[in-house]
Amino acid sequence: MTAARMRLVDEMRFPGRPEILRDVRTYVARRLVMELPEAADDSRLLDDLRLLVAELSANAIKHTVSGRWRRGSFEVRMWLGANHIRMEVRDQGWWSGPRIRNDPDEIGGRGLRLVAAMATWGVSRRWFGRVVWFEIPIEKGCAA
Ligand SMILES: Nc1ncnc2c1ncn2[C@@H]1O[C@H](COP(=O)(O)OP(=O)(O)OP(=O)(O)O)[C@@H](O)[C@H]1O
Ligand SMILES: [Mg+2]
Repeated sequence: MTAARMRLVDEMRFPGRPEILRDVRTYVARRLVMELPEAADDSRLLDDLRLLVAELSANAIKHTVSGRWRRGSFEVRMWLGANHIRMEVRDQGWWSGPRIRNDPDEIGGRGLRLVAAMATWGVSRRWFGRVVWFEIPIEKGCAA
C-alpha cells in the first residue's frame, strides 16, 4: 500500500529516553481508538500495534542519536488506509541502519525479527535520520 492512498492521522514527537516507551504504547492505542472506535474491541490489533511501535521506538532510542543526545527525540506517525494501518518511527540517525540479526547466541537482536514476522516493514533514508515503518491489516479502515 502506498502512502498516497493513506491518510495521515497523527504525528507525535517523543524524547529519546527509555521511560517514554510506556507513553508511546499508550499513545498509539488511544490515538487509533479515537480514530477508529471499533478498534477498542480488537485487543489483538491494539496489542500488536503497541508491541511493534515499542520495538521500533526502542531501536530509535537504543541505536541512534535520538537516544544519545541529551535533547534527542524521535517521531511517531500513524497513517490509515482502507485495510491497513501504517506506523512510522523517524529517528535522528546513526552510521548504520536497521538490519535483521540472526545470531542465536546473542541476547538481543530479536526486535526486528518480531516486526518482520508480524508485519510488512521497511526503512527509508532521510537527510537527517531514517524512517522505519511497518504496516498491519485492519478489518475496518478509513478510506483516504
Ligand atoms: N533505527 C535504527 N537505526 C540504526 N540501526 C538500527 C535501528 N534499528 C535497529 N538497528 C540495528 O539493527 C539491529 C537489529 O535490531 P533489533 O531490534 O532486531 O535488535 P536489538 O535492538 O539489538 O535487540 P532487541 O530488539 O532484541 O532488544 C540492531 O542491533 C542495530 O544494530
Ligand atoms: Mg531492538
